[in-house]
Amino acid sequence: MNFRQTKSGLKLSEIGLGCMNLPHDYSSASKIMTTAIEQGINYFDTADLYQKGKNEELIGRFLKEEGRRDDVLIGSKVGNEFNYEDDDVKWNPSRAHILKSVKDSLTRLNVDYLDLYMLHGGTIEDNMEETIDAFNTLKHDGLIRAYGISSIRPNVIDYYLTHSDIDVIMMQFNMIDNRPEMLTDKIAAHDVKILARGPIMKGLLTDKYSEVADKKFNDGIMDYSKQELTETLAKAAKDAPLTESSMRYLLDQPVASIICGASRTEQLETNLAHYEAVKNAGPTTRHFFKDMNYEDHLS
Ligand SMILES: NC(=O)c1ccc[n+]([C@@H]2O[C@H](COP(=O)([O-])OP(=O)(O)OC[C@H]3O[C@@H](n4cnc5c(N)ncnc54)[C@H](OP(=O)(O)O)[C@@H]3O)[C@@H](O)[C@H]2O)c1
Repeated sequence: MNFRQTKSGLKLSEIGLGCMNLPHDYSSASKIMTTAIEQGINYFDTADLYQKGKNEELIGRFLKEEGRRDDVLIGSKVGNEFNYEDDDVKWNPSRAHILKSVKDSLTRLNVDYLDLYMLHGGTIEDNMEETIDAFNTLKHDGLIRAYGISSIRPNVIDYYLTHSDIDVIMMQFNMIDNRPEMLTDKIAAHDVKILARGPIMKGLLTDKYSEVADKKFNDGIMDYSKQELTETLAKAAKDAPLTESSMRYLLDQPVASIICGASRTEQLETNLAHYEAVKNAGPTTRHFFKDMNYEDHLS
């Protein structure tokens, strides 16, 4: 495993574990987390919203029972106010909500501080100054080591790049959804790095693409109809294994870590094997895939 450092000094493994996709039973989830650490992963990504805090609790139990806190950096997210009575989620990026929520996340995760704390969305209408002030307070008080945003909105990203001290931006990024290419130069110029989520597009960028397309992408995706999508993937797969091309493509970007989700241990092992095969290889292109942009697709 290779590592990359962010400006606040977080040294992240090039592959991180997206914990949103973990199975809900402790024993299966614990096996995936253990495999991740044994294979060199040192970044676990979660959010308070995932299963209304239960995802953080699952990780917290693992860190405590297995004594793994020192082996991993933990990133969580804030901004969605939920309650346990109904499914209503209210967007709340206020200072008060962030300062309260961090304590709830620390308790659920069984940790004294978060390595990374991210705003989980937001629009240009938010009071971003207030949000940034809250993150700076938490960093100053030692409750978080670094902060960032999870956003696909160019205007929001622009604001945070120029008005805050963010280390990372989490964005969906892969050969199919290559919209972040529009922003990579600007992001790199601010010494900010990307956490690339959805690197295998829910399984499409694997050798199971046809099965995954049938199961999850019957309406196609972005500018691709389902037929066009499977034809494109078939062509690209003849050239090189899709997961290897995806990993290599992302490693050539200003990415700190590629956040892979897995609901089974074998998925993680397969994806890591593809990463290992190309981690030190030369640059590649995504020449089978169309250019995407945020003007046409802002969701
Ligand atoms: N807004 C945000 O901040 C945001 C949004 C989304 C995700 N995230 C983060 O990013 C992480 C990854 O997101 P993602 O789920 O979109 O990423 P992904 O890595 O592209 O997809 C993960 C899913 O792909 C399938 N998969 C994985 N390996 C496979 C393989 N070898 N063969 C076939 N299928 C395979 C599994 O689906 P099945 O479980 O169906 O088998 C798995 O749950 C999340 O866990 C979360 O931490 C953040």
